[in-house]
Amino acid sequence: MSGQPASFIAGPGGRVSGEIRVPGDKSISHRAVMLGAIAQGITEVNGFLNGEDCLATLAAFEAMGVHAERPAADRLIIHGVGLRGLKAPPAALDLGNSGTGMRLLAGLLCGQEFDSVLVGDQSLMRRPMDRIGAPLRRMGARIRTREGQPPIKITGRMALQGVAHELDVPSAQVKSAILLAGLYASGRTLIVEPTPTRDHTERLLAAFGVPVECDGAEISIRGPAILQGCRIEVPGDFSSAAFFIVAGLIAGASPLLIRNVGVNPTRTGLLEILRLMGADIRLLAPRDCGGEPVADLEVRPGPLRGITVPHEFVASAIDELPVLFAAAAVAEGETVVSGAAELRVKESDRISVMAEGLQRVGVHAEVLPDGIRIRGGAVGGGLIESRGDHRIAMSFAVLAARAGKPVVIRDVRYVATSFPGFAAMARSAGLLLGEQD
Ligand code: S3P
Repeated sequence: MSGQPASFIAGPGGRVSGEIRVPGDKSISHRAVMLGAIAQGITEVNGFLNGEDCLATLAAFEAMGVHAERPAADRLIIHGVGLRGLKAPPAALDLGNSGTGMRLLAGLLCGQEFDSVLVGDQSLMRRPMDRIGAPLRRMGARIRTREGQPPIKITGRMALQGVAHELDVPSAQVKSAILLAGLYASGRTLIVEPTPTRDHTERLLAAFGVPVECDGAEISIRGPAILQGCRIEVPGDFSSAAFFIVAGLIAGASPLLIRNVGVNPTRTGLLEILRLMGADIRLLAPRDCGGEPVADLEVRPGPLRGITVPHEFVASAIDELPVLFAAAAVAEGETVVSGAAELRVKESDRISVMAEGLQRVGVHAEVLPDGIRIRGGAVGGGLIESRGDHRIAMSFAVLAARAGKPVVIRDVRYVATSFPGFAAMARSAGLLLGEQD
């Protein structure tokens, strides 16, 4: 985080147009490192996200004896050590701000021959971990938390057995932690997922040669499993593109083209929601990129109308809801989101932090137990506390284009966890975004 600016001074009046390409997908980059590390042979990753979250995951594996070359910031050549080749780390593994890093790694570490401890920054140390602890214990893991929060202490040398587990929260991190433990377990690990969540782990496991059975809501693998190193092309992160999708709609001068974006249907709920609000977003040149759907997105500016967001799109838009709230703030009429209680346990409580920020710039926003009600209208200037949450900071940077006065956004250092270079890209697209220490 050092070297990053402390605040953004944003808008008003920026108009976006032209062509951009956002950095690599965070979820896929984490998984590429993890699976490449425990595979046999070389895994080559192109389009790796050079953000702090993924770098923390990479550093954790380096601490466990994995060698990775970085011929370029977005290229990795991982020398896999095989399923049983990781070594005991000399100290606690620090996953920084990353819930994905910590939860997925916890699943994988339950199958090791050594003990390990996982820690993170202030925000991560407050996030719920029993959601992975409980199912992993049922598999035979010995895993302890501090009243459900990190540090996570894992005892090695436990024999894991496959179990059947039904997810009680829609969470790809929980699903993936169980699947990674399942690689080390004997027998079948079965997950029942009542609400579909991002399926990058399943797709990548298949790319590494592990048979994954997906049958409706059921996903299963058999352990112990051998992974073979492979070549991974990481597409642009839809969650990063989301800020520019909304910018293109609410502050576009002409169509904005966002090239090479991952459009896995478990991630693109925002497109469905925005289209219901009247948005014109086209998927150009749809293609397959190493098992993941990819397209270029063309976003045409135009007015949006408020809607009640159908529950079916919430899980596949979970990381994009903050920027959807920004779009709702300038839509005509009221937007209501519910069924999104998971937002309260992200890097910040994204329901209350977004509501507080919207109110600060004069937008009517009412907190609901599991969502928010926003009345679109005029946006003023003001001071926003992003509470160290990258997606809150970027959402207000976009909304500021429609504000009447400048919006100062504090605590923006964490933008580099998921979107290094965001401010420069925003400026190149036409947003008026200054940075200040
Ligand atoms: C992620 C899953 C989601 C998402 C996070 C990345 C992943 O979290 O919010 O940014 O890569 O598996 P949950 O599983 O907690 O919903």
